[in-house]
Amino acid sequence: MPTMRLFPLLLAVQALLCSHTTTARLMSKAHLREKQAAAMKNFVSKGPSTQTTVTKSNNITFSNPRAADFFVDGTTIPEVDFDVGPSWAGLLPISNATNETRQLFFWFFPPGPQGTTDDLVFWTNGGPGCSSLEGALQENGPITWSWGQAKPTVNEFSWTNLSSVLFVEQPVGTGFSQGKPNIRNEEDLAVQLVGFMQQFLEVFSELKGKNLYLTGESYAGMYVPYIANHIYSNPGQLDLNLKGIWISDPSLGWDVIQEDMPAVNFVHKYDSVFNLNSTFMAHLDSRAAACGYSNYSIEHVTYPPKGLLPLPGNSPEAVAGCDLWNQIFEAALLINPAFDIYRIFDTFPILWDVLGFPGSFEQIQVAPIYFDREDVKKAIHAPVNVSWAECSNQQVFPHGDGSLPSFTVLPNVIEKSVRTVVVHGLADFILIAEGTRAIIQNITWNGKQGFQTPIQDENFIVEGMGALGNMHSERGLTYYEVALSGHMVPQFSPMAAFHIMEFLLGLRENP
Ligand SMILES: *[C@@H]1O[C@H](CO)[C@@H](O)[C@H](O)[C@H]1NC(C)=O
Ligand SMILES: *[C@@H]1O[C@H](CO)[C@@H](O)[C@H](O)[C@H]1NC(C)=O
Ligand SMILES: *[C@@H]1O[C@H](CO)[C@@H](O)[C@H](O)[C@H]1NC(C)=O
Ligand SMILES: *[C@@H]1O[C@H](CO)[C@@H](O)[C@H](O)[C@H]1NC(C)=O
Ligand SMILES: *[C@@H]1O[C@H](CO)[C@@H](O)[C@H](O)[C@H]1NC(C)=O
Ligand SMILES: *[C@@H]1O[C@H](CO)[C@@H](O)[C@H](O)[C@H]1NC(C)=O
Ligand SMILES: *[C@@H]1O[C@H](CO)[C@@H](O)[C@H](O)[C@H]1NC(C)=O
Ligand SMILES: *[C@@H]1O[C@H](CO)[C@@H](O)[C@H](O)[C@H]1NC(C)=O
Repeated sequence: MPTMRLFPLLLAVQALLCSHTTTARLMSKAHLREKQAAAMKNFVSKGPSTQTTVTKSNNITFSNPRAADFFVDGTTIPEVDFDVGPSWAGLLPISNATNETRQLFFWFFPPGPQGTTDDLVFWTNGGPGCSSLEGALQENGPITWSWGQAKPTVNEFSWTNLSSVLFVEQPVGTGFSQGKPNIRNEEDLAVQLVGFMQQFLEVFSELKGKNLYLTGESYAGMYVPYIANHIYSNPGQLDLNLKGIWISDPSLGWDVIQEDMPAVNFVHKYDSVFNLNSTFMAHLDSRAAACGYSNYSIEHVTYPPKGLLPLPGNSPEAVAGCDLWNQIFEAALLINPAFDIYRIFDTFPILWDVLGFPGSFEQIQVAPIYFDREDVKKAIHAPVNVSWAECSNQQVFPHGDGSLPSFTVLPNVIEKSVRTVVVHGLADFILIAEGTRAIIQNITWNGKQGFQTPIQDENFIVEGMGALGNMHSERGLTYYEVALSGHMVPQFSPMAAFHIMEFLLGLRENP
């Protein structure tokens, strides 16, 4: 439909601008469709990279009879008109105490035919309090039902094409999970999650001894490094071999660094997308200069760094008059009421989202939220009496998260891991890549502070696409910046995310 409506407009523009040219650039509907089909032909998975050999099997079975209670028949998932294959889902407690009331909801997918059975990938979304079923349905699971899609489709770039994937709604208070939230900090969260994993491995004991990769996005930039740090610090608790972590668009440091400091530079980079007026831009420039933001990176984010990086205004939060991220958000909404902090390119109208959270604002349009449907809950052994929301209405940290930013534990995790990847979408405004670079330059791992040599441009090469951003790897840490991607990298740039996962899992030698 939208394509059809273009034609009268194209004709009019043609008449106005090109009356003297002889080669009219009018395309037939068939020609346009042909171009689109050709583009989509490139955008298919060629399957996992074959650089290394791995154990493969497409017939994982579980001998514990309890596992059968969790079996999900991949042909009976509501609205999904293809066979997703076997998977297992349901609630399991966070400890084996007989009086344990708290349970987390999980959905486990075994690897597809080309994936390895050597590994187990754990995925969590952030929030805090946002459900990992968002990841399962819209980012890296075998089904994709993303913003604006009328129905679910096969995810060609599902991480299950590489490995087993375990999506867990955590901490307590998130999604379908049961019980009263009581955690005070990330250490408490890690203890509960490891408790859940122990219970999970009792039922699915064939997964014991696998290589574990902890992955997540956004506020999981707090969860994942802390969980990994806990596992490394308490060897023997979990019968899995933690090998590495993925954090994308992660909450790693102070807000002033990941939001306010880089906000005005970000608007300049995407000037024509924001379209803020010149009076307001002049105001932003003068504030950014006064707040010590404009040249922060030029002065402090050097390779190698010159010392520890200071906080602008000596404060972890923006000081008065320096909350420029908020000011930009307000101004952006005035001229683009659909402005999406998670993906800045969106414009009016807001896309329909089957999970009811299509961007900056929650929105329900006509259909019920997918995981709040009774038939869906029954299909995946979820409690039917829980009303499901993508992001929880209760505080999962009842008194706030008492932990320091995760940059304090990340160095230990990098040192203990085989590979660590930090990924950042360049079209994400809620957390900004320039700030993530600053945090990396401020941490010391494997004997040195930060990257020693500069991050090069255009060296993140995705087969079939070409340069899709920037990449840098030193001493066990690999950092990726993904062009054109918003906050949810596996959702918006699935081919890039698949490539990066192959590297994390050791299925590809070079980043
Ligand atoms: C990737 O996974 C999807 C969904 O499970 C599957 O349909 C597809 O065939 C897989 N692709 C490859 C190349 O393995
Ligand atoms: C699963 O696959 C393995 C290896 O291909 C094979 O040895 C085993 O018998 C299969 N098990 C079942 C239940 O089909
Ligand atoms: C509960 O788990 C702990 C730690 O894994 C173990 O020592 C204990 O024996 C278990 N108790 C029961 C009742 O299974
Ligand atoms: C279970 O019982 C133990 C020992 O009586 C107690 O310390 C613990 O708080 C109880 N846990 C829950 C979740 O009620
Ligand atoms: C930032 O640095 C540039 C040159 O590198 C300089 O022209 C400009 O005045 C500086 N701005 C501030 C606010 O310090
Ligand atoms: C850099 O690290 C030091 C030491 O951990 C910390 O005090 C400081 O706030 C950090 N700076 C930034 C910009 O995060
Ligand atoms: C320019 O933008 C600012 C901030 O949104 C707004 O308050 C002001 O009215 C705008 N001025 C014009 C002329 O658009
Ligand atoms: C839902 O039902 C279960 C089992 O009947 C019960 O234990 C739980 O408390 C109920 N939860 C709510 C929120 O009503």
